[in-house]
Amino acid sequence: MFVDVVVNGERYEREVSARRLLVHFLRDDLDLTGTHVGCDTGSCGACTVHLDGVAVKSCSVLAVQAHGAEIATVEGLAQDEQTPLQRAFTEHHALQCGYCTPGMLMSATALLAQNPTPTEEDVKIALQGNICRCTGYWNIVEAVVAAGKGSA
Ligand code: FES
Ligand code: FES
Repeated sequence: MFVDVVVNGERYEREVSARRLLVHFLRDDLDLTGTHVGCDTGSCGACTVHLDGVAVKSCSVLAVQAHGAEIATVEGLAQDEQTPLQRAFTEHHALQCGYCTPGMLMSATALLAQNPTPTEEDVKIALQGNICRCTGYWNIVEAVVAAGKGSA
């Protein structure tokens, strides 16, 4: 089947099997390996990307379902320099192994686009689908709140 998508502002046209998951299409067909696979079953959030501006778990979307869509992945966040959210993750020690970080960043970026000054509670709700095995979550929540306040 044919898929035509724009990813991080660049257009890609590819033939894919009907069963190809979006996460594998991004990682293996487009070499955009910043999007991680933690569970492949929609549980961990490591594979979160934006599909037409909405945060989705790309292991739960078929590549063909993304046909015609604009996709943003973690590679698309930083242009010449890191975003305030990325800087806040560094400054607040919001990552350890970093495996969950691409998904956390994409979920939090979607939150900040809708709600530029989220509370701790807002952040916890927005990130409830993203699992981190290292940090205990608090520094991640603190970083997203700080990025929203523009203090990062
Ligand atoms: Fe998609 Fe875990 S790999 S939710
Ligand atoms: Fe290791 Fe989150 S920093 S899983």
